[in-house]
Amino acid sequence: MIGLRKIRIGVIGGGGFSRASHIVNYKKLNDKVELVALADVNEQIVKQNLDEFGFQYGFTDYAEMLADVELDAVSVCTPNKFHAPATIAALNAGCHVLCVKPPAMTGAEAIAMKEAADKAGKILTYGFNFRHTNEAQILKRFVDAGELGRIYTGRVSALRRSGIASWGAFTNKELQGGGPLIDIGVHMLDLALYLMGYPKPKTIMGVTYQELGNRPLTPTWGGRWDYKNISIEDMATAMIIFENGASLQLETSFIGHMKELDVMNITLHGTEGGCNFSPLSIFQDKHGTLIDITPAYIPDSNAGKSEIETFVNAVSGQGELICTADEGIKVQQIIEGIYRSAETGETVHFQ
Ligand SMILES: NC(=O)c1ccc[n+]([C@@H]2O[C@H](COP(=O)([O-])OP(=O)(O)OC[C@H]3O[C@@H](n4cnc5c(N)ncnc54)[C@H](O)[C@@H]3O)[C@@H](O)[C@H]2O)c1
Repeated sequence: MIGLRKIRIGVIGGGGFSRASHIVNYKKLNDKVELVALADVNEQIVKQNLDEFGFQYGFTDYAEMLADVELDAVSVCTPNKFHAPATIAALNAGCHVLCVKPPAMTGAEAIAMKEAADKAGKILTYGFNFRHTNEAQILKRFVDAGELGRIYTGRVSALRRSGIASWGAFTNKELQGGGPLIDIGVHMLDLALYLMGYPKPKTIMGVTYQELGNRPLTPTWGGRWDYKNISIEDMATAMIIFENGASLQLETSFIGHMKELDVMNITLHGTEGGCNFSPLSIFQDKHGTLIDITPAYIPDSNAGKSEIETFVNAVSGQGELICTADEGIKVQQIIEGIYRSAETGETVHFQ
């Protein structure tokens, strides 16, 4: 609620994730918010969302939506190329913005988004929903309590054995900015950085590979992708070194010959303990004994709901954000640095 009235929500992009996560979770908060308007370039998708979720207005151009309808807050759920322009337009129209991950295509775009938020005096946050899992929040409490000590290195893994989404823009570099690195690697990289206190990057070496995605190999849940028209990497690896001396190794794939179908994990090493995100464990050496700490019970997470609730509460002045526009800039700069290093074959140095 803002004062005595409900928060008026607009949505830009009404595709798969928007419908499955943002819209349904706003719906659950209908005592606080109302779904007022939706814009999508696809007229049928606009109609489908209006019929199904009861938006009052639909548009095929988000600029018209922002000009014609009074809104308090906007979710941006388009392919990556449109995150920055749609977010900046919504902020300029006086709306708070929750933009799905990745923040943008480049670090410069993420900086422009933060500048627009500062100028408008509005909230800008990003949908890094893995932070909203109970596992991540348990780890954060242990890290904040000093149980890991100073975190000095770690490994970020976001790997699929054969999971290339065959719909939307996921194989199109022009629309998405890349493949697994910018799509799923960014989730686990953000989580590691969040637990490490978002250190400043110093140098990055990255390599990307296109070895398997351009072949008619066996698909899984993503269906038969268009292997003849794929412009993204299918695997990326990187070494990131931070100004404080800490480092992260990163590995991410949409397709690669390996045992597991899907790995979304981070491991961190600190002076007092280490941890594994999935399955959650903390490793220590205490009182002459090597011990592993594993929670006896972790409630099921509803990360999508928690992400929307956190945004709505922040908009109504009743809660703190857990992901900031500054963090969005850093993670985007690191992703861009990995791609730049892979392209040039050179180490990327940050100022
Ligand atoms: N866990 C997560 O955080 C998560 C999961 C899935 C997707 N995503 C992100 O959500 C975004 C969308 O992914 P998706 O799976 O919903 O894709 P999708 O293809 O199902 O939906 C994208 C929608 O955006 C619309 N669109 C395209 N250009 C537009 C524009 N200029 N203005 C308005 N609408 C436009 C398309 O018509 C489509 O309906 C991506 O950035 C992706 O990274 C995040």
